Amino acid sequence: MIVAGNWKMHHGPESARSFLRKYRPPTGMEEEPRVLIFPPALSIPAAREALTSNGGVELGAQNMHWETEGAYTGEISPPMLVELEIRHVLVGHSERRAHFGETDADVTRKVRSALEHGLEPLACVGETLEEREDGRVEEVLRRQVEHVLEGASGHAGGPGIRLAYEPVWAIGTGRTATPEDVSRAHGNIRGTLAEVLGHEQAREIPILYGGSVKPENAAGLMEAPNVDGVLVGGASLDPESFAAIVAAGSGGRKSG
Ligand code: 13P
Repeated sequence: MIVAGNWKMHHGPESARSFLRKYRPPTGMEEEPRVLIFPPALSIPAAREALTSNGGVELGAQNMHWETEGAYTGEISPPMLVELEIRHVLVGHSERRAHFGETDADVTRKVRSALEHGLEPLACVGETLEEREDGRVEEVLRRQVEHVLEGASGHAGGPGIRLAYEPVWAIGTGRTATPEDVSRAHGNIRGTLAEVLGHEQAREIPILYGGSVKPENAAGLMEAPNVDGVLVGGASLDPESFAAIVAAGSGGRKSG
């Protein structure tokens, strides 16, 4: 199980430090989930500093450019993340796609570049409400997953990627997909992975769910078949609610 927090554009350096001072990993868990936090890039050094007393949390970046360096004002490169000892990077979040014009082709480039630099991409896929109402969920997920896999193709030692299914209509809306919806979508995603990579490799790729995950619904979602963890937005901003979700991840079941 993986419990990941995407802070989006919240928690500047001081506030990141304060979160991590307050965050206490739950104790007495049967099986500890892996805990990742994606702060804004500027807050990463402060978060890292505050983490020295809080070993269980790994840090990631919310975005990066695919190029190593160059005239790309406002962007952050993979080597810059590596220099900050960052290991994880979100790629293709729906907010990047919707507000910053990130395309499937960009996602392919970013996944490829992340892997080339030794970073572990957590690539986000998910349909909009309109696509869902048009009955296009499978088609959209297939197209997005294929672009992620194109970026991972030829990567030595396996694909090295993780996926997050984040239906756009469930993000920040309080409207969570049901565990049945999530299982079905994850099953589709797993099917596409298996077609491209074969069943064995497909089984190794964690698929997280994101979209209005809260302490109250986290356990049910993580117990659903084919769900390997959650990617939490709003409820990851408060140390106590995030800790409650981490605790919910300790009783979950692995897919397989
Ligand atoms: P919310 O949990 O706020 O719906 O956000 C989900 C998300 O986008 C995580 O990446």
